[in-house]
Amino acid sequence: MIQRKFDNRAAIQVDFLVIGSGAAGLYVASKLQPHGRVALVSKGPTSDANTWFAQGGIAGVLSSQDSIECHVQDTLAAGAGLCREHVVREVVARGSEIIRELIAIGTRFDTHEGKLHLTREGGHSQRRIAHAQDATGRAIAEALQLQLRPSLIRLTGYTAIDLITSHHIGNYAGPNQCLGAYFLAPDGQVVSVASRFTILATGGAGKVYLYTSNPHGASGDGIAMAWRAGCPVVNMEFIQFHPTCLFHRDGSNLLLSEALRGEGAHIVDAHGRRFTFDYDERGELAPRDIVARAIDHEMKKQGVDCMYLDARHLGEQRINRQFPNIRKRLLELGLDLVSSTIPIVPAAHYTCGGIDTDVAGHTAIEHLYAIGETAHSGLHGANRLASNSLLECLVMADFCAKSILAQTPPPIPHVPAWDDSGVEPEVERIAIKQNWDEIRSLMSHYVGIVRSNERLRRAKRRLLMIQNEIADHFWRHPVSRDLIELRNLALVAGLIIRSAQMRHESRGLHYSTDYPYSLEEPRDTVLIPDTSDELDCH
Ligand code: FAD
Ligand code: SIN
Repeated sequence: MIQRKFDNRAAIQVDFLVIGSGAAGLYVASKLQPHGRVALVSKGPTSDANTWFAQGGIAGVLSSQDSIECHVQDTLAAGAGLCREHVVREVVARGSEIIRELIAIGTRFDTHEGKLHLTREGGHSQRRIAHAQDATGRAIAEALQLQLRPSLIRLTGYTAIDLITSHHIGNYAGPNQCLGAYFLAPDGQVVSVASRFTILATGGAGKVYLYTSNPHGASGDGIAMAWRAGCPVVNMEFIQFHPTCLFHRDGSNLLLSEALRGEGAHIVDAHGRRFTFDYDERGELAPRDIVARAIDHEMKKQGVDCMYLDARHLGEQRINRQFPNIRKRLLELGLDLVSSTIPIVPAAHYTCGGIDTDVAGHTAIEHLYAIGETAHSGLHGANRLASNSLLECLVMADFCAKSILAQTPPPIPHVPAWDDSGVEPEVERIAIKQNWDEIRSLMSHYVGIVRSNERLRRAKRRLLMIQNEIADHFWRHPVSRDLIELRNLALVAGLIIRSAQMRHESRGLHYSTDYPYSLEEPRDTVLIPDTSDELDCH
């Protein structure tokens, strides 16, 4: 068992600890850096974050045909009754200002005749998506990285293991406070970072599923760490499946941007039939939950492994201009958007639920904030509107920085060092891989686009066994990145199952064959740590 000693030897002491270097982390770090020592920590390079892979763009009210009210109403409609309306209004109102700031710091959005070129995506009633070809996230991240000053402490390759809180170190006098976090460093040592303020910007949990558009690191670490530290989580059952991910054995996580459909691409079956209009009059541009369920339903009905995206009629010139990176990746796999239809399947894409916060990222723990995809601010409700996520990351980061800077800072805390003397040799990687594969497979089969009471029960039974094994590995062996992620993945899977079991209706992204209707009064699913359930959440 790991013994934790209290010895004041924090390896690093900072004013602001930012965990995660996607859009949310980069932006909040850039806002905080003039005001103190910032450590910006991430498991991998910025190119290994969801932000880097964002294709379609960032939503904002940028044309005279559009209005804030219209963007608000589209967001509320997609959210199916569960958006927090004041949050939607605050975020949407900041859209155009944030995009202008991004332009001012060097983000090169596409233009047409001297104006921003705006594309369209599902659920948006207007063209309002600013984009940098089909690699918007990367363009934003690169511009934000250039804002970081040399004085900022950049710790890349450091994996956060757990938050350090006053309650965890036995100080129960007063409310629970965050004091920093433990990290596994690239050399295998565990270092502690003590901080006045800690900000989780750790992204989503797409890796809980077998098919996902997310890069490897999206294992829900922030949600798991915050839960273990005592933060409630909200609406974890709402996992967004993107309708059009490539179906291919060598490139299964390549996304085919919704902007392709926004520009006119069709979804067809193997016979070339456009079937999405059978499910919704908006066809391919209905919100994602509807389009993903339509594809899933047709695949099951026709007994096939995939459907197809047909963009041939957009023409080579337009495809090269707007979607050069997607075309290039496909060509590397022997597929061409210009001349053939592309096999697609829905894949886990976005975690709508997360750590319970307000729009500035306040959590239930003092001096701990959560922003971006790891948080549940209430913007997305039961289903996120396309391209609202990058916007949320930046608006939350801005509000978060302002809220922190308005406070009298607490003293830099003393934190105990991590001590794993006495643990046994490292757990065999094969055992970790096996558990990891089992979780992703059971979540995909039983807790995917269509759920039922029986499927959720099965998932829960199987997950319980795996969780017990992981708990044993974690406490008996030295930590490794794989083991840290596996522990978090299992916890988050448990939170998703538990939340899905609590929702006795179908709404937004959660569809149950046992409850195919929506209840009259929409309610959030709120899970609070230490409330009893057999699924291990520690
Ligand atoms: P991320 O960008 O995912 O960053 C998370 C960071 O946390 C990473 O740096 C990671 O290394 C770090 N981290 C995680 N765990 C740990 C740990 N334990 N220790 C240390 N560091 C850790 N949204 C839009 O609005 N428009 C789009 O066009 C769009 N397209 C998308 C396309 C794809 C393929 C994907 C996957 C998502 C897309 N999204 C889009 C969603 C959007 O990109 C994400 O929701 C958003 O970028 C999340 O940003 P973030 O800063 O919260 O997290
Ligand atoms: C896409 O480009 O289809 C992704 C947009 C998003 O997830 O917001």
